[in-house]
Amino acid sequence: MTNSAPYYFDNAATSFPKPPEVARAISDYLSENGGSYGRAAYPRAFAASQTVERLRDRMGTMIGTKLVDNIVFTSCATMALNTVIQGFSWKSRKVLHTALEHNAVMRALSMMQQKHGISLECLPAHVDGSINLEALTQIDLSNIDLVVINHQSNVNGVIQPLESLRAILGAIPILVDASQSLGTTPLKADEWGLDFVAFTGHKSLLGPTGTGGLFLRNPDLVSPLLYGGTGSASDKYEMPEAMPDRFEAGTPNLAGLYGLLAAVENKPACSYQHKDFEHLLAELRKLPDISVFAATDFSRQGPVFSIASANLEPGAFGDRLYKEFNIETRTGLHCAPLAHRHLKTFPAGTVRFAFSPYHETKDFDYLLAAIRKVAR
Ligand SMILES: Cc1ncc(COP(=O)(O)O)c(C=O)c1O
Repeated sequence: MTNSAPYYFDNAATSFPKPPEVARAISDYLSENGGSYGRAAYPRAFAASQTVERLRDRMGTMIGTKLVDNIVFTSCATMALNTVIQGFSWKSRKVLHTALEHNAVMRALSMMQQKHGISLECLPAHVDGSINLEALTQIDLSNIDLVVINHQSNVNGVIQPLESLRAILGAIPILVDASQSLGTTPLKADEWGLDFVAFTGHKSLLGPTGTGGLFLRNPDLVSPLLYGGTGSASDKYEMPEAMPDRFEAGTPNLAGLYGLLAAVENKPACSYQHKDFEHLLAELRKLPDISVFAATDFSRQGPVFSIASANLEPGAFGDRLYKEFNIETRTGLHCAPLAHRHLKTFPAGTVRFAFSPYHETKDFDYLLAAIRKVAR
């Protein structure tokens, strides 16, 4: 880890540090390059538009889709998720979701439940919150409008089996929350038949805050969340039909998108070994007063996990980690009360650790020694 963030383990909230090229790209945009997107034809504006389109292409590769024009940029994953949830063409008004959803999904669904009579049902889950595929095959799936899946939990790192869902769900549209996973876990939207993918730029993609996006396989299933200028079809008061303009009203966060492009083009290789992460979890599981919340099957584990202590509240545990060991981490519910209810850690929550590709195995040793001391 770099000197500026020696023991930062809060990468599920936002990643830090970023590749140095990110700050450079943002600064170059603000001080040198400038220009708006899609609104003029002089070279400066043209270069800005080309940069955004290059990023769109890159995101297509990361999401695993050839339909790059159907990727729209938003200010965060929350906005992308709300675009689908609030704008969806509901019929039966029934939604299925996983046991590990974040409030970016649950609050939007809950608002739709209260205001528009949408009914919600949780998918059958194993103890770690992973979808119980066998039980899912027994469920009556007629009349389900939408299935929402948090690809990787921000509480225990469980990666859901997206690759197996299409066969079970038939033609039901799937909305994937890839906030935690995109950048660390492969995603194949076309191959796996995913309909919507919401992502954020500032977590595993290592980009700046204020960036994110949404992939819509069939944009006709959703109405835009925002209406406004796009620099195209400006003679009309209606939003243009063409993608991506239909969902990109207003000037985008160009400085942020320049930063995000620099992040995806300069992604560092992972500095730690996956097996050393597995070893860390195994050692933590040996501690008598510590419960570990992680995937039951390590092959479904993302770089996030939680612990709870039998003796100290998560806040007090995290406080000691920071004060005594300079370890920065997140404690409590991590905006995911549903997940904590499932994991039986509600309402106190957990102490969460989330890695970055800049972590090295020696950082895990330091973390393990610190947790051992605080847990004692
Ligand atoms: C699983 C999950 N979904 C959605 C979000 C929301 O992301 P953003 O704050 O970038 O909108 C988060 C952020 O913590 C998350 O972990």
